[in-house]
Amino acid sequence: MSTEQQAPTYPALVQALADRGLLTARWRQVFEAVPRSRFVPAEVWRQLPDRCEPVAGTDEWLALVNSDEPVVTQLDDGAEGGPGIATSSNSMPSMVARMLGLLDVEDGMRALEIGTGTGYVAALLCERLGDDLVHSVELDPVIARQATDALSRAGYRPHLRVGDGEQPWPGLGPVDRLISTCALRCVPYALLRQVRPGGIVVAPLAREFWSGALVQLCVQDDGTAVGPFCGGATYMPMRSHRVPDLHKVPGKGRARAAGLDPARLLDLGFALYAGARLPGVRLIHQGTPAGVQVWVTRENGAAATAATGEEVWQYGPGLLWEEIEQAWWEYESVGRPDAEHFGLTVTDRGQQVWLRDPHEVIRPR
Ligand SMILES: C[S@@+](CC[C@H](N)C(=O)[O-])C[C@H]1O[C@@H](n2cnc3c(N)ncnc32)[C@H](O)[C@@H]1O
Repeated sequence: MSTEQQAPTYPALVQALADRGLLTARWRQVFEAVPRSRFVPAEVWRQLPDRCEPVAGTDEWLALVNSDEPVVTQLDDGAEGGPGIATSSNSMPSMVARMLGLLDVEDGMRALEIGTGTGYVAALLCERLGDDLVHSVELDPVIARQATDALSRAGYRPHLRVGDGEQPWPGLGPVDRLISTCALRCVPYALLRQVRPGGIVVAPLAREFWSGALVQLCVQDDGTAVGPFCGGATYMPMRSHRVPDLHKVPGKGRARAAGLDPARLLDLGFALYAGARLPGVRLIHQGTPAGVQVWVTRENGAAATAATGEEVWQYGPGLLWEEIEQAWWEYESVGRPDAEHFGLTVTDRGQQVWLRDPHEVIRPR
């Protein structure tokens, strides 16, 4: 028996998605009919935790494309000599399968995708619904051109537009389903107005308080939308929704004894809770040999950093770490709910996170 590792193949990838319960029989047929490799250009990068690594050689390229990993297809919005941040990709196949499952499409429905990227999701939707019922918009003209070419080489002709997907598609009329494949900091009301009452919107949200989560919203008769969070999702953000860096932290810090292990804060349920209780507070984190270090900041200059097993340092006005700990104890007192217990309501006045019931809105402190 050979001990050599088998190179991953696309049929094996689709099989693995089906084995994980991520594909209905119909979506499995669709995935099988649309090989991912047809939509991935030659020059790509692998996303590592702290940087993007170029992928060299056909074997490495094929191994990445046939794996359940995102394939980065553009850095720094296409600019030369930038910091190397991923700005377009062919998304992780299991995430694509989850999102298409949540979209709950039926024959004859019209779908709109925001973020054409490589064209792979648009091709899957065309295979499922038919070219004429699929619309997809991409902001970056170079990426859009590559997607148009890949789609037409693969035999698909959806309606494509180069432009800002946050703005209404002129003359499109209401669609049944909207999927955003770039992350939103908040769901723009203008997007909902493109979807008919009873229609569904699936989107990843990227909040300031460390959370990336999928949301599935149902548009109501009055034009508002309500629905649950459906697990974590890390997506590259819509260009105008990029989460800014941490606020500047002025002055000297004040140390205090360690309290809550910051590793406990990296829980999606808590991130959704704290994000709603402490709007505008940004949190980022990094692994350390002992556990994790987090940094939190607020626009008024309040900040704190805490690392597993070390003292807490607080900066600027107020005591931001105490506020974070207070939010944690509140979260404990409501039963430490998983992300799936939270939901979102979007109206023309903004969006609100709720817990277990749309009437139980989590108000800012
Ligand atoms: C993760 S990629 C999309 C992957 C794609 N669905 C696929 O199948 O390959 C996100 C894309 O969203 C695009 N994007 C960012 N902001 C946008 C906006 N305002 N309107 C439309 N597209 C946008 C990016 O240029 C990028 O190509």
